[in-house]
Amino acid sequence: MPESHPASDRPIRWGILATGGIARKFAADLLLDGHLVAAVGSRSAESAAAFAREFGIARAHGSYADLVADPDVDIVYVASPHTFHEEHGALALEAGKHVLIEKPITVNAAQARRLAALAADRGLLLMEAMWTRYLPHVQRIREVIAAATIGTVTGFLANHSQNLTTDPAHRINALELGGGALLDLGIYPISFAAGLFGKPTTVQALGSLGATGADTHVSVVLQYDGGAIASTYSTSRSRGPNTAAILGTDGRIEMSSVWYAPSETRVFDGRNRLVETFDWAVAGRGMQFQAREAEQLIRSGRIESGILTPAACIDIMETLDEVRRQIGVRYPGAD
Ligand SMILES: NC(=O)c1ccc[n+]([C@@H]2O[C@H](COP(=O)([O-])OP(=O)(O)OC[C@H]3O[C@@H](n4cnc5c(N)ncnc54)[C@H](OP(=O)(O)O)[C@@H]3O)[C@@H](O)[C@H]2O)c1
Repeated sequence: MPESHPASDRPIRWGILATGGIARKFAADLLLDGHLVAAVGSRSAESAAAFAREFGIARAHGSYADLVADPDVDIVYVASPHTFHEEHGALALEAGKHVLIEKPITVNAAQARRLAALAADRGLLLMEAMWTRYLPHVQRIREVIAAATIGTVTGFLANHSQNLTTDPAHRINALELGGGALLDLGIYPISFAAGLFGKPTTVQALGSLGATGADTHVSVVLQYDGGAIASTYSTSRSRGPNTAAILGTDGRIEMSSVWYAPSETRVFDGRNRLVETFDWAVAGRGMQFQAREAEQLIRSGRIESGILTPAACIDIMETLDEVRRQIGVRYPGAD
């Protein structure tokens, strides 16, 4: 087994678990940003081989077990559907590998707690791939807020809505794959609100369910200690404006469409004057920033990111569990 915290003179070696839509996008960003993708694993040897060929990856494994056992992999990126995140994350951790797991980290808080305990027990990195948190404009937003440029932050308004397929078998609609607008889309503004305010004291949600029982529309209002309120809206049935605003006592920050991806951000003072605009060009989709953070943490021997800790992920999953309870979405065997 390789040492878990390699010295800084050799590249960190990534293993990609699953060959679906987001695995392709992340692999492209990793390569664009100069990271080393050492191996890919799929349930099918053919899919693994095709993925490896397309991205120039040295080793293709026809099972996830073989991927995590690869001695030349340091960190496994888990890109399977939500309902498999705990199982596949645990598979990698048990094999001594650090993990970056697609969002949501698991389908419920109980699973997230188990995974976090396992990672802590093994002394291995556990990160959720909530890539928005690591983007340059979001890093700058944290600095602007810390400098109190907009005073005390008291509100957050955001939406994340896409016009996605109504195919009942697609994972966005399939309950057995953790389907629904909340866990695919709504998690973005809810996670962002958690980054601003922490854990809510009150959660109130309304949702509409589609034919399969997965939520197609979900609106959530969260209240925090001190009175701050976040209001979020997501649907998988219409493309939305996908903008967000952070409101403070002395100004506001407006995040342009698409706010959770690299986008233009403007800071206004309390008299509605524009005081700062940031709009950095980002190569690719922008998923590389979470990879840079993961590599830095591994090199420095740390097992969690201060930007989004496993404990914060558990809190977010608790909020999502409560939203699901209120809107009546239950996942078979994972409630
Ligand atoms: N960060 C983002 O922007 C973003 C965007 C989209 C999705 N995601 C997240 O990424 C995860 C995967 O989403 P995706 O859109 O990539 O899904 P996808 O295109 O359906 O791919 C999922 C992959 O998971 C593997 N898999 C293992 N067991 C499976 C099963 N029972 N049914 C279907 N696939 C199975 C398959 O890979 P093999 O056949 O190779 O084993 C499949 O290609 C989700 O948790 C989602 O929330 C994140």
